[in-house]
Amino acid sequence: MFDLVIDNVRICSCEQDLSCRPETAIGVEAGRITALDPPPEAPRRRHLDGGGRLVLPGFVDCHTHAVYAGDRLDEYLARLSGQSYEAQIKAGGGIFHTVQATRRATLTELIDLGVQHAVPLIAEGVTTLEVKSGYGLERETEMRLLQAAQALGPILKSRIVPTFLGAHVPPPGEDPARYLERVMDDMLPACIETGLTRAVDIYVDAIAFGPEHLDRLFERAKSLSCALHAHTDQRTRLGATIRAADWGAVSCDHLDESGPDDVRALARSGTVAVLLPTAALFLGQTRKPPVDALRKAAVPIAIASDLNPGTAPDPSLLRAAQEAVRHFSLTPTEALLGITKNAARALDPQPDFGTLAVGQSADFNLWDLSRPESLLYAPGGCRPTMSFYRGERR
Ligand code: NIG
Ligand code: FE
Repeated sequence: MFDLVIDNVRICSCEQDLSCRPETAIGVEAGRITALDPPPEAPRRRHLDGGGRLVLPGFVDCHTHAVYAGDRLDEYLARLSGQSYEAQIKAGGGIFHTVQATRRATLTELIDLGVQHAVPLIAEGVTTLEVKSGYGLERETEMRLLQAAQALGPILKSRIVPTFLGAHVPPPGEDPARYLERVMDDMLPACIETGLTRAVDIYVDAIAFGPEHLDRLFERAKSLSCALHAHTDQRTRLGATIRAADWGAVSCDHLDESGPDDVRALARSGTVAVLLPTAALFLGQTRKPPVDALRKAAVPIAIASDLNPGTAPDPSLLRAAQEAVRHFSLTPTEALLGITKNAARALDPQPDFGTLAVGQSADFNLWDLSRPESLLYAPGGCRPTMSFYRGERR
């Protein structure tokens, strides 16, 4: 017995490209797609006429810092008058500014703020949202951030993937290696033991951690069976992409300064390249990730919003995908697979979300659009007509 059958739809499964499947109906049972074109006589609890609409997988935003307190408007304005992101963090602002505000916020406040920040993403069809910690830089707040992230799942009716980013930046005045010891020996085990995360991230940059810190953290995280992610080559190329790939990282994110050796390492390891055009543009960066080399080496490319108060405060995954096309020269197919199939792979090597096929989670949206490319043409006006997460209307 199907819980739901939707017929009269055009199914863009995002498995290979943007073409529509020959089938025109979806059968859902227990939150999964269990049939395409189920027999018309098959019993069902609910039936919906899709009205000829387009169905796409629910979007996957695979890199966000959506739970934080405060904003960084003053710093943005100061940057417009010439101050640099680096100078701000060196003066104790930047990420530290958000850390101060976040440490003061209660769990309830962080949940409310996370909802506020993420609602626009959900409204444009995101059904899976990765959320990093990293604005606590001490155990209690890091754990509170992950707890708040997890709490968003039932509220937003979405899949939340919480990632531990205790190694965001070393706290001011602290020796990076000493702080990293605390991250590895205290914060990370506490977050794993309490079921708050199964994934680890680190920011490697001149203003953050070095590649030697990545090695130490990844060795420990791997022994704890964590999925590995790294912010690499965003502002400075320190060789961290190669190291992360060699550790078997699921994703390397940013890559604005990456070169041919980095691309080769990603290709060897099957690591997903996560591009974050919103942050690159917001910081006024002129260098662009090596998209053509990534494409030629068949590295899977994902796009994410990077939603955060410092470098990407604008909550739109569709606009990020549009920017990837306009500024990073992705094709429309690459951009849309980058927020579906490949974004799912940036979170899980064998995801049961991000594409539409039998056996996949029933996360999908119905769109009143003639073609999927319309999502990149005018993203600001695009809202799904109906949205389903695990087979439930939301
Ligand atoms: O992905 N680069 C490091 N982390 C974030 C920015 C965090 C912030 O500025 O608050 C990023 O761009
Ligand atoms: Fe980030």
